[in-house]
Amino acid sequence: MFVKYPDKRVLAFFTMTLILLLGTMTSGCELNEDSGEEPENSKEQAEPVELPAEEEFKEQLDVSLMDSLSERRSVRDYSDEKLTLTELAALLWSAQGITEKQRGYRTAPSAGATYPMEVYLVVENVEELSPGLYRYSPDEHTLEQIKEGHFNEDLKNTALGQDPIGDASVNLVITAVYERVMNRYGERGERYAKIEAGHISQNIYLSCSALELGTVAIGAFNDEQVIELLQLQEGEYPLYIMPVGKR
Ligand SMILES: Cc1cc2nc3c(=O)[nH]c(=O)nc-3n(C[C@H](O)[C@H](O)[C@H](O)COP(=O)(O)O)c2cc1C
Repeated sequence: MFVKYPDKRVLAFFTMTLILLLGTMTSGCELNEDSGEEPENSKEQAEPVELPAEEEFKEQLDVSLMDSLSERRSVRDYSDEKLTLTELAALLWSAQGITEKQRGYRTAPSAGATYPMEVYLVVENVEELSPGLYRYSPDEHTLEQIKEGHFNEDLKNTALGQDPIGDASVNLVITAVYERVMNRYGERGERYAKIEAGHISQNIYLSCSALELGTVAIGAFNDEQVIELLQLQEGEYPLYIMPVGKR
């Protein structure tokens, strides 16, 4: 039989249950915050950054191969002057730009056209670009922002405190997803990806030479620390850091 007016014990029971329920819901929220997981809507990334197209840097890169090769040097001192977005676009296109749309072929060779490489950017001092971590998307010739902020010092600390990384306008980090090339070539695929990093790095060196920018290929860094800083996916490894700045 139902009682018309619940007595005090029933009321107390309901109140306690309500408090417990609310408590569980709130602590659930706290857990979510503490777990470091980003709330879903903060994952809404900024729009990709459109980079200046080939026509815009064609002339700047139109320097004789003889000059680019003979003037290529590792440069470790940079001025505070900002890099332009066009200069950055030229470097990224040289590194991994698409030169044949139909088959997706790129500026740098790749074993079996498997394209296991990625280029990340730690941006510090580039016109029209807020400091932060980005990834180059060759297909769209755009930049995807991963997170905003100043990360030069963190990156420098992964690399025995090498000053060029801290002083760079932008650091290009070349990584490899070995699986993409190992799926076709087995164990040997890892070697192919490492060789490919060399091709990409040389393209960046030669473009820096043509654009009168400074860069140096840096191989001495702690892999695990770079993986953590760049939030790399499982199976993706950094192979080179290339700081870039005006001479
Ligand atoms: C695989 C590799 C790793 C390198 N690692 C570093 C490095 O960690 N730090 C650095 O200052 N230079 C590094 N360099 C650049 C060399 O020191 C440089 O190429 C060499 O001194 C010759 O000078 P050049 O590039 O001006 O001709 C590296 C070069 C290569 C090829």
